[in-house]
Amino acid sequence: MTLLDVARIAADFPILGRTVRDGQRLVYLDSGATSQKPRQVLDAEREFYEKHNAAVHRGAHQLAEEATDAFESARLTIAQFVGAQTDDIVFTKNATEAINLVSYAFLNATLKAGRGMSLPDGAQRFVLAEGDEIVVSEMEHHANLVPWQELCDKTGAVLKWIGLTDDGRLNYNDLETVLNSRTKIVAITQQSNLLGTINDVGAIVAAAHGVGALVLLDACQSVPHMPVDVAALGVDFIAWSGHKMLGPLGIGCLWGRAELLAAMPPFITGGSMIETVQMDRSTFALPPKRFEAGVPMAAQAVGLAAAVNYLNAIGMDKVQAHEHALTSYALGALGDMPGVRIIGPLDSRDRGSAVSFVVDDIHPHDVGQVLDEHGVEVRVGHHCAWPVCRRYSVPATTRATFYIYNGIEDVDALVSGIQSAQQFFGVSV
Ligand code: ALA
Repeated sequence: MTLLDVARIAADFPILGRTVRDGQRLVYLDSGATSQKPRQVLDAEREFYEKHNAAVHRGAHQLAEEATDAFESARLTIAQFVGAQTDDIVFTKNATEAINLVSYAFLNATLKAGRGMSLPDGAQRFVLAEGDEIVVSEMEHHANLVPWQELCDKTGAVLKWIGLTDDGRLNYNDLETVLNSRTKIVAITQQSNLLGTINDVGAIVAAAHGVGALVLLDACQSVPHMPVDVAALGVDFIAWSGHKMLGPLGIGCLWGRAELLAAMPPFITGGSMIETVQMDRSTFALPPKRFEAGVPMAAQAVGLAAAVNYLNAIGMDKVQAHEHALTSYALGALGDMPGVRIIGPLDSRDRGSAVSFVVDDIHPHDVGQVLDEHGVEVRVGHHCAWPVCRRYSVPATTRATFYIYNGIEDVDALVSGIQSAQQFFGVSV
């Protein structure tokens, strides 16, 4: 049913060989929060520290040269993975910072324009006037919601959103009513981290560009799981994290159209991102350096490139097909369970591998605790997508997320863990 050799893949992940909760097999179903790391990624990071460690883009000694080469060649590998030009990839701490970088470009352009200060060519499109509009959706992770709320609070722009249908999909009818000539940016997820829904990016881009708005795509839950090509998507910015795609913690990426990055004022300022510095003013480097102040996360970049190589060796088409098969199986199995309600689309069409559910008469945290006692590690709570829980009238959900090292037996372990929870709490089904 699934296409990947899960046993062979899992053998590459040292952590998957350990046991949890008194000797039970680790069934890791929380890759939506963070993925596990194969030995190849761990080795790449260790090799960087053991052989090449230095502060990149500084110093003329051999280690500095090697570290800089490793860092920039990692950028090339990562850019190629999403069909991007190397200089259009900005390294950030994580996707949250990447999204903040864009929201702060709007804020900083607006503040500087308001004081009559000079801005890079083309920056006018980042200048907000009172009453301009920012559009998100009701299925956003807080990382793609709160920064825009803050931007609106500080500038007088107005936040609007595209709603959700009862079956867990975006309400595309809202595109027509919510977007208008005052919309400056549509910031939206490609795949919901809670519902699993994969959005029709083409329809969103057509509507947004039709009114002259930019599109930022939160691709945290898509880049790790499906082929993503920036040109084919037609969006203006893409943000994602390294740690959800087998890479290290502490690195994320922002891809932006070259002409937009060139027009954006910086977010974090300091060393490395400058062109010239005098006591009373500075000018800034071209992207991506303009957005990478301070000593960058070179070891993490090298580790992320190793993760990309690992995924490429499998093939993103196969990754997607494998997860699609697992998700279909999980939706069928959970859908057949009395007392279990899936929050999100019930069928696997346009759906990624996040499966959220609630169990009648058992709080999601209690479900998670019983699962944990069986070695099944899932996420419980609002998943940093609180408005989604409100939309579907649940306080929280239990969420299983799958990746390349999960197989059918992991879904079966999830199902039997849920049955144990129902038995433990005496819920009649
Ligand atoms: N964004 C991550 C999740 O959905 C942490 O779990």
